[in-house]
Amino acid sequence: MGKDVIIALDFDSRERTLAFLDQFTQEKPFVKIGMELYYAEGPAIVREIKARGHKIFLDLKLHDIPNTVKKAMAVLSGLDIDMLNLHAAGTKAMMEAALEGVTRPDGSRPLLIAVTQLTSTSQERMEEDLLIERPLDEVVMHYARRAAQAGLAGVVCSPLEAGKVHEACGQEFVTVTPGVRFADGDVGDQVRVTTPARARELGSDYIVVGRPITQAEDPVAAYRRCAAEFVGK
Ligand code: C5P
Repeated sequence: MGKDVIIALDFDSRERTLAFLDQFTQEKPFVKIGMELYYAEGPAIVREIKARGHKIFLDLKLHDIPNTVKKAMAVLSGLDIDMLNLHAAGTKAMMEAALEGVTRPDGSRPLLIAVTQLTSTSQERMEEDLLIERPLDEVVMHYARRAAQAGLAGVVCSPLEAGKVHEACGQEFVTVTPGVRFADGDVGDQVRVTTPARARELGSDYIVVGRPITQAEDPVAAYRRCAAEFVGK
């Protein structure tokens, strides 16, 4: 898998997003568009950023009945994105339907990956709210295996879980990992964090980095530092 740094474009408008991207005159980083920006600007922002030459991870975390997800995925596949996701909790049937929907008439498709348990879900909340009483890491691994069985390309997980996911689902199964911070940087609201260099050692395929780059005094320098530590370029 081609290791890469994905910048989380957690902005609420087209103007702020493009002002941020305009700073990158030498490189075209892989970017993540999440719910905030997508709901603010719609598919037009995806097309515009794609036209600028960026690879795009559309982080909309779909979760609905299989038929609805399949149809929504078919629409999203027309956006020429490179990666998108759904919740593994929607079941294997939903993941299989999604994969069918996202496959374009020519057989190509973006990388479809699954969210296992959100990093905001603790053992206690999972037991109390979801009535799931198994250990959290066992649940994460089970969801990852189900995603692999459904034919998905990978999962979003913590860098700390990347090695175990590869062991269970194969080296080709992609791990996309947020929760990355520089050794000398602010942690913010992330709890279990790793540096880009450590994420690389742990076997992450892609790291998703937001604030350490978007809020940096010099975002381009922060991106380059991240890429140097993670990809070694
Ligand atoms: O700013 P920061 O580097 O914490 O941003 C991380 C990005 O990854 C955010 O867009 C966040 O929504 C996303 N994310 C995460 N943890 C997950 C899934 C997605 O932090 N489990």
